Amino acid sequence: MAEGMNDLTKHVVDLRRHMWLDGVEVELRRLIWQIAVVGKYISARIHESNRKLAGFKNIYGEEQLALDRISDEILKNKLQHSGFVSQYASEERDDIVTIGKGTESYIVTADPLDGSSLVDTNLAIGTIIGIHKKSLFDCGRNSMVAALYITYGPLITMIYSAGKGAHEFVLDREGEYVLSEENIRLKGKGSIFSPGGLRKDWTDNHLKFIDALERDGYKLRYSGGFVPDINQVIIKRGGLFTYPALKESPQGKLRLLFELQPMAFIIEQAGGMATDGKTDILSLEITTVNQRSPIYIGSAAEVKMAGEFLNQ
Ligand code: AHG
Ligand code: MN
Ligand code: MN
Repeated sequence: MAEGMNDLTKHVVDLRRHMWLDGVEVELRRLIWQIAVVGKYISARIHESNRKLAGFKNIYGEEQLALDRISDEILKNKLQHSGFVSQYASEERDDIVTIGKGTESYIVTADPLDGSSLVDTNLAIGTIIGIHKKSLFDCGRNSMVAALYITYGPLITMIYSAGKGAHEFVLDREGEYVLSEENIRLKGKGSIFSPGGLRKDWTDNHLKFIDALERDGYKLRYSGGFVPDINQVIIKRGGLFTYPALKESPQGKLRLLFELQPMAFIIEQAGGMATDGKTDILSLEITTVNQRSPIYIGSAAEVKMAGEFLNQ
């Protein structure tokens, strides 16, 4: 028994140790750790919530849960006292907030609670974080140094990348983030698809693309939460998530800074791709905080296939 325990504990690598072994720069690994800790606080608030809508709207005119605001406040307060963050940009705020002295190394973007409309249904929801070194008003490839997301499901899991692969951790009963999958690599092609938006609003080329996936036998997997839907593609090692351009909203629904750039950073680190149908998400120039973009993200074959259909 004791021997078995030793065998087990020998292989347990927690998040801080993993980042240290991986050579992540000291301030960056402390920052990632602090954000992971915020995930524990947010999950505690989810558990305490009564799953009811608060009845006010966010800056995009969407009905908002109190939990969105609470998560945003917790995150902002923690980052404010971290000493590593000069600016904080959140889906829940109109403007970028200066939270440091201006000399700190990092700028953090957040979708503090993604999939908030699923809270009452008890489906998985998440937190999405981008970490930038330079101005946000550049392309992700120039400014991003790390990204992570936390999934609040039956288990709490976290995937981070600091530019050296994508790694998954599970929050254990002792409150430690324990390594569960190191260097996740997507296959070249998957077998699931997750298409956002209504069929009647899709462009003709997008419709043809989705029809082709269906003909090829791809299985539909769409929960309505970006985090769990992308997480499924990553953990199943392939497939596609898309929220396309719609006839009435050519820029789609999802936001570049808060949702798309962090996920594109992680998927590329896992050997996948993310484009707007043509251009890599990480090559798109950011000009406004709430900029949206269509997205095709997942394993390379499906993302390339989308490009072929959209650009014919
Ligand atoms: P949020 O809860 O942060 O506003 O994000 C909701 C997003 C995203 O999680 C999901 O992929 C998408 O909205 C779902 O949109 P539809 O309800 O239009 O499918
Ligand atoms: Mn979201
Ligand atoms: Mn949100």
